[in-house]
Amino acid sequence: MPALIAGVPEDRLAAFAAREARRFAASRPLSAKAMAKGSGVYLSGVPMHWMTDWPMPHLPLVAEAHGARLTDIDGYGIDDFCLGDTGSMFGHSPAPVAKAIRRQARRGLTYMLPSEAALEAGRLLTETFGDFRWQIATTATDANRFALRVARAVTGRPKVLVFNGCYHGTVDDTMVTLADGKTVTRPGLMGQVTDLSQTAVCVEFNDLAAVEAALAKGDVAAILTEPVMTNSCMVLPAPGFLDGLRKAATKAGTLLIIDETHTISTGRGGYTRVHGLSPDIFVVGKCVAGGMPTAVWGLTPTVADRYHQANVNRPSGHSGMGTTLSANPMQFACLVATLGEVMTKENYARMEKGAARLANGLADAIARHHAPWHVVRVGARVEFICAPGPLKNGTEAAHAHQPAVEGAVHVGLLNRGSLIAPFHNMMLVSPVTKKGQIDRLIASFDEILTDLFPPSQT
Ligand SMILES: Cc1ncc(COP(=O)(O)O)c(C=O)c1O
Repeated sequence: MPALIAGVPEDRLAAFAAREARRFAASRPLSAKAMAKGSGVYLSGVPMHWMTDWPMPHLPLVAEAHGARLTDIDGYGIDDFCLGDTGSMFGHSPAPVAKAIRRQARRGLTYMLPSEAALEAGRLLTETFGDFRWQIATTATDANRFALRVARAVTGRPKVLVFNGCYHGTVDDTMVTLADGKTVTRPGLMGQVTDLSQTAVCVEFNDLAAVEAALAKGDVAAILTEPVMTNSCMVLPAPGFLDGLRKAATKAGTLLIIDETHTISTGRGGYTRVHGLSPDIFVVGKCVAGGMPTAVWGLTPTVADRYHQANVNRPSGHSGMGTTLSANPMQFACLVATLGEVMTKENYARMEKGAARLANGLADAIARHHAPWHVVRVGARVEFICAPGPLKNGTEAAHAHQPAVEGAVHVGLLNRGSLIAPFHNMMLVSPVTKKGQIDRLIASFDEILTDLFPPSQT
C-alpha cells in the first residue's frame, strides 16, 4: 500500500503532478522563452521574490486582465480566482476606478497636499467602516506598522500580542511564532538581528485563557489580529472568541487592532461592520482603492485624543510614521471611486452568492470522492483545505498545509483554465466573476479529485 498524503496515494500524486507539470510546460512556450531570455536582471529571476512560490514549472507572462479574467502571452484566457491575492477582489480595473485614474492622470500624480477628493474619501471611509480618524498609507504592511507605533505611544507599553501563524505584512514586530509554548523569532526571517520576543508575545488563536494570561502581565500595548485567520489554512473564530478578545483588551488597558485586509471579503464595512466588532484601531489595505496601492488605518475618537496628547508631549523630530508617496491624489481619486461605486451592497451580494455556489460545489466534490478535506468561506473568500476541519488555531493550520498536494492541484487547475492564490488554496469571487467561471472551476476540481483518489474510495 503506498503512503497517503492528505488522503492521496503517493504514487498517484507523483504521476498526476508530473503529468500536469509537463502539460503546463508544453502549453506555454512563449512565456518560457521570454522568461529565460529576460529575467536574468532580476534577483532569483523575478521582480518580487515571492513569485518563485508559484508551483508551475515556469511563470506565465500576463498580457492583460479584464473583469475576472487574465490573458497570458501564449494566448490562454484564465479565470482569475486569485485576483491579486485580494488587491483586485472587485475585478481587474473596475470601470469607475479606471475612469478616476484617467481623470486624475490629467491633474497630477503626487503633490503632498490634499485635494477635494481627500475630504470626500474621508467621509466615505467613515460611512463605510465606522467612526474612525483616518490616515492613508500605501501598503497594509505600513498601516499595521503605524498602528502599532501609535498603540505603543499611547499606552507606553512595549509589546504586541499576535496569534501563532498570523500574517500582517512584513511587519517585523509580528514575526514571532510559538516553540514549545514560548514566543520566539520566526526562524526563516532574513537578516533579523533582534530578539523579537522582547517586544511581541504569541499565543494560539481561539485560546482566550492564553490571551488573558499574556495580558495580565500589563506590558501589552495592542492585540493585532484578523477576525478570521486567513493567512494560514483558514481558521474561523470560535463563538464568543472575538467578543472575549474585546473584553480582555478593555480590562487590561490594551488596544485592539483589527486588520481587515483580507476579511474585507466578508461584506461592506468588513467583518467589523457585518459582525458588530468594536476595534480601537481599524486597518485595511489591498483592494480598498480598487487595486491602486493604498491602505488606511483609523483610530476611534478616544484613541485619537490619546494620540494627540502623546504627539504634543513628545520631543520634536521624526515620528517614525509616514512615507512620501502616501496620501497622494491618485489614491484619493481611487478611494472615492471604490468606496462610492465599487464596494457597494449590490456588489457584495453578488460576491456572496457566487462564493456560496463555489464553496458548495467544492464541498460536494470533496464529499463525492470521500476526500478527508474541507471547505471554509468568509464572504467572497473561499478555501479548500486538504485536511479535515474545522481548524482551531495556527498549529492545526500549519499541520493541515500540504504543499505537495496543493501545488499539484494548483497546476492542474491552471491547465484547465482557473488560477487560484499560490500560498494556500484561496479563491476569491468578484462581482464580475461569472457563474460559468465558477462552474468550470468546480468541474475541474472534481476532475482532479477523480485523478487523485482511487475509484475504490469513491
Ligand atoms: C491580513 C493582512 N494584513 C496585511 C497584509 C500586508 O499587505 P501588503 O502586502 O499589501 O502590505 C497582508 C498581506 O497579505 C494580510 O494578509
